[in-house]
Amino acid sequence: MYNGKKILAVILARGGSKRIPEKNIKLLKNKPLIAYTLEEAEKCTLLDRIVISSDDEKILDICRTYKCTLQTRPKELAEDSTPSIDVLQYVMKETEQQEKYDVIVLLQPTSPLRKSAAIEECIRMLIDHTVDSVQTITKAKEHPSIMFKKESDHFVFNSKEFQDPKGEYYVLNGAVYAVTASVLKSGTLYGARNKSVIMDQSESIDIDTMDDWIIAEQRLEIRNIPLSAPFIEEDDIQAVVNVLRTSTLSLGPKLQEFEEKVAAYIGTKYAVAVNSGTSALHLAAKAIGLKPGDEVITTPFTFVATANAILFEHATPIFADIDEHTYTIDPNEIEKKITPKTKAIIDVDVFGYPSHKTELAAIAKKHNLKIIEDSAEAIGTTYDGKKVGSFFECGIFAFYPNKQLTTGEGGILVTNNEEIAKLAKSYRNQGRGESGPWLQHVRIGYNYRLSDINCALGISQMNKVERILAKREKKAELYTKILSTFPEITIPPQSTEHRKVSWFVYVIQVPKRDEVMKRLKQRGVNCAAYFTPLHLTDFYQKEFSFKKGDFPVCERIAERTLALPFYTAISSEQIEYVCKQLREILDELQ
Ligand SMILES: Cc1ncc(COP(=O)(O)O)c(C=O)c1O
Repeated sequence: MYNGKKILAVILARGGSKRIPEKNIKLLKNKPLIAYTLEEAEKCTLLDRIVISSDDEKILDICRTYKCTLQTRPKELAEDSTPSIDVLQYVMKETEQQEKYDVIVLLQPTSPLRKSAAIEECIRMLIDHTVDSVQTITKAKEHPSIMFKKESDHFVFNSKEFQDPKGEYYVLNGAVYAVTASVLKSGTLYGARNKSVIMDQSESIDIDTMDDWIIAEQRLEIRNIPLSAPFIEEDDIQAVVNVLRTSTLSLGPKLQEFEEKVAAYIGTKYAVAVNSGTSALHLAAKAIGLKPGDEVITTPFTFVATANAILFEHATPIFADIDEHTYTIDPNEIEKKITPKTKAIIDVDVFGYPSHKTELAAIAKKHNLKIIEDSAEAIGTTYDGKKVGSFFECGIFAFYPNKQLTTGEGGILVTNNEEIAKLAKSYRNQGRGESGPWLQHVRIGYNYRLSDINCALGISQMNKVERILAKREKKAELYTKILSTFPEITIPPQSTEHRKVSWFVYVIQVPKRDEVMKRLKQRGVNCAAYFTPLHLTDFYQKEFSFKKGDFPVCERIAERTLALPFYTAISSEQIEYVCKQLREILDELQ
């Protein structure tokens, strides 16, 4: 038993890996499998039950020396089918009737590494990493092996026996274990029969030497790390495919379901899904009634859409400098910018960190201002236990693929205000009224609709929002643990008792940022300077005559900020690699 998971070990017959009939593979679906030796299985305390199943007398003889449940290979199994898999099928059928196991451990009597601690570690890794980020390189031939690297969630198939001088890898023998990675990766099996499993031919490589391994690692993206990546699992894909089989691809049931899910999660009465975060911001600006000439105070340290939404309604963005500790708008600076023309504030929970909600609420009350929360980067962030996006007139979230959750493209407006929800729904759909004929338009409108295809993906992502956010938090914690020991670096603002970060990006402050960024990229570590202060972008400078020095705190921070690779499935090994490169570069630049 580990982490509440029941673990069953099955000792397979030797050489039972040549053929893998598809019908049998279905049994393995969604079950993590690992392989190891019998002797060590006995010593491994995590295993709840060990079943040895074989018709090979020699194997059974060995097994009898250990305290295992013996199960000879059932005679009724077909002659020509794979013994190992048939045994597994038999055992699973049997165990299904008795107890459910979360993890099946296939134990191969011939595995070269024999350490029970290693089995335990393998099991822990499989459970801890769950099933989301297994990447494979394969050139599986007749007897491939899979290398399972310590502290890694990567599998590699090998065509020959792999030399492991440093004792760094767990080696899982046999084609049957190629199934393991396939099942782990996708929940389905692609391969079968003699040729075994083919994951992605373009990535194939024979691993015969340590050099091959290094190349393989690079291909595994251990050394080519993206800045961000969506987190898409099999259920997400299925959700989209299922919608494609229906006749309602837009304005269908998935739209409403998605909106209800988000509203319930954020804690607002209404949610209006649209085709981007920018569209959501525009509808928010419109729905709160911004008019030409109105002034709206916002932060210069944000993505351009925040301020553009103000311009869409011919209102004027007025920037106020930021708090250097949270990177969010500084309430004291807001007060200084208020004039009789000020109508609203667009408050940004930048990088997933909550802004100063209490102070903003007081300012809004005192000056009778409306507030839009641009929480595009902050789904799940809380302030005093309450989700951001639900504090003021309305809030928005964005679902571009770099966000915590994605709908491909998409955004959503959330509100407790019935009138805002009603207007946003109408604006989104060409200004149509709540009822009436399709070609009757009661106000100006846009096509900001989000298709049911996107919404289905959104629902599927929402179903695992807590798991995704918890994973991201774990990844951020690892970065923080390592980077806290780098004296040159300022780590991002962290969660506190009252503020819970939903990790969107991992942004550090670092000296000589541009040079560090250049050198990191040369080493395959993608990173970005988030954000260029909006007042210093060409368009805003030209349009509003902003100049350097206008918002000194924002400028000072923006000169040093660097977003490191960060996404739900980034591995610990990748994070360690990024940090190692960063350490070396900082030393070089001293
Ligand atoms: C703070 C902020 N606001 C608005 C948006 C716009 O969202 P979208 O790209 O979906 O239009 C983003 C997107 O990155 C953002 O970071």
